[in-house]
Amino acid sequence: MTTGARIIGTGSYLPERVVSNQELEALVETSDQWIQERTGIRERRVVDDTQSCGDLGQIAAQRAIDAAGVDPKTIDLIVVATCTPDRIFPSTASGLQRTLGTQPGGVAFDVAAACSGFIYALSVADRFLRTGGARRALVVGTETMTRILNWQDRGTCVLFGDGAGAVLLDVSETPGILSTHLHSDGRYEPLLYVPWGPGRGYAALGEESGYIHMRGNEVFKVAVNTLTRIVEESLAAAGIDKHEVDWLVPHQANIRIIQATAKKLELPMDRVVVTVGEHGNTSAASIPIALDTAVRDGRIQRDELLLFEAFGGGFTWGSALVRY
Ligand code: ACO
Repeated sequence: MTTGARIIGTGSYLPERVVSNQELEALVETSDQWIQERTGIRERRVVDDTQSCGDLGQIAAQRAIDAAGVDPKTIDLIVVATCTPDRIFPSTASGLQRTLGTQPGGVAFDVAAACSGFIYALSVADRFLRTGGARRALVVGTETMTRILNWQDRGTCVLFGDGAGAVLLDVSETPGILSTHLHSDGRYEPLLYVPWGPGRGYAALGEESGYIHMRGNEVFKVAVNTLTRIVEESLAAAGIDKHEVDWLVPHQANIRIIQATAKKLELPMDRVVVTVGEHGNTSAASIPIALDTAVRDGRIQRDELLLFEAFGGGFTWGSALVRY
């Protein structure tokens, strides 16, 4: 009998503070009109000084646990996707194990795949559940991207925001995670990266080394081409026709990238979950935030076929076909 993973709960959280495009007009030479036309972003959320990436993840995860109505002690795997972890170690996942009160002695670790992080984490958790390594898994995407933003760089500061999303997976004889597809190409590092890391040290790298550096226009072109390819790959591997997909739940980076993928799928935009306008690019958090939004407002129904796709720093990219 085939066993696999099924989503039994979703949750998300956005910090209280809203920063509008108009507010950014006071910081850099930009305009609400430019940001909306080029990206679809109207506003983003920003953490306060006391909030960490783990705090956001904890709230989103608790909401997913509550939605599923399960005892946290039964969760024996936590995979957190983030590129803005609370600390170098222990992992953000280990922190969540403590704060959520999940199974002591279970497995907990972070994965780093930038904006594709949630798909990577979902894929890893799915493999654990398929092979008997765990029975109930929490997959969290949580990010405080504004902590690595240069608020003087208009090419990046208008794009990103903070937030968290989570799904709870159960081992099941009717698997919901049908297939996942992961890729990376490290040759593209110069187009999108944060120079600083603990392994390099700080002194030699200069003041701006802790911020996102991006050649946005070039990233855009590769992202559109790559996402088009991965959509085809996922459908072909599962033997599914594109017209069978009920909902596209894409990484929320830019409305124009999302529209290009939807066009490839011949999917009308009212079958695409779009939340980028409300929170900007929240990196690994964006797919579970979009998923949770559409589950809670009743758009996504049980048994519908969902396609997740993401692209980000690395470059990394990936997709998942999910029977919800
Ligand atoms: N406000 C006003 N003008 C701006 C701004 C801004 N915030 N940022 C750039 N510009 C200017 C540029 O300086 C340039 O001016 P110039 O013509 O005088 O040189 C002009 O706008 C056009 O710049 P482009 O970079 O060609 O604009 P583009 O249409 O490509 O849009 C954007 C820029 C929004 C960054 C787009 O390239 C993009 O979204 N790229 C993908 C980046 C991304 O999403 N990265 C996240 C990680 S990867 C992922 O998640 C998919």
